[in-house]
Amino acid sequence: MNQLQHAESPELREITVSVNGRTQRAEVPDDLPLLEFLRETLGLTGTKCGCGYGACGACTVLMDGTPIRACTTRVGSAVGKRVQTIEGLAQDGQLDPVQEAFLEHEAYQCGFCTPGMILEVCGFLATLGGRIPEKDEVRQTLRRHICRCGSYQRIVAAVMDAAAKQSRPA
Ligand code: FES
Ligand code: FES
Repeated sequence: MNQLQHAESPELREITVSVNGRTQRAEVPDDLPLLEFLRETLGLTGTKCGCGYGACGACTVLMDGTPIRACTTRVGSAVGKRVQTIEGLAQDGQLDPVQEAFLEHEAYQCGFCTPGMILEVCGFLATLGGRIPEKDEVRQTLRRHICRCGSYQRIVAAVMDAAAKQSRPA
């Protein structure tokens, strides 16, 4: 059974989850994948479904600041946690520096892998405390993200640029 499928008559449970700073309440099946909750229940379709079983990284979101795969995470695991999706990154109409760097470097073609890549990078950069990573660290961080368009070189360049900008004092 695909990870995104769940039982026909599952037990429903009322849950409260913080998504992009907003409290969301819903009655959902116990085993509902977080990805389905985000896309189908909340309509946040920026989070993509590539493989549905944890292999491609397209569904990556942040949970309490840590990148996780929404396709293999049950929504119940997100109760009491802060979930951030690509829709919640820009603040007051200002793109996140990682989003800006992806745009500047045209680090995509179709863009399907991009939201997951960006959130993985945001989680990664937040752990560095302003240190600029080595390119190999960036490649390692993104090793479990698949880009079918092969934009890897530009993606790494974008991440290095975003890291450099974030390390500079405002
Ligand atoms: Fe979740 Fe591929 S859709 S890892
Ligand atoms: Fe198309 Fe990465 S830009 S899959």
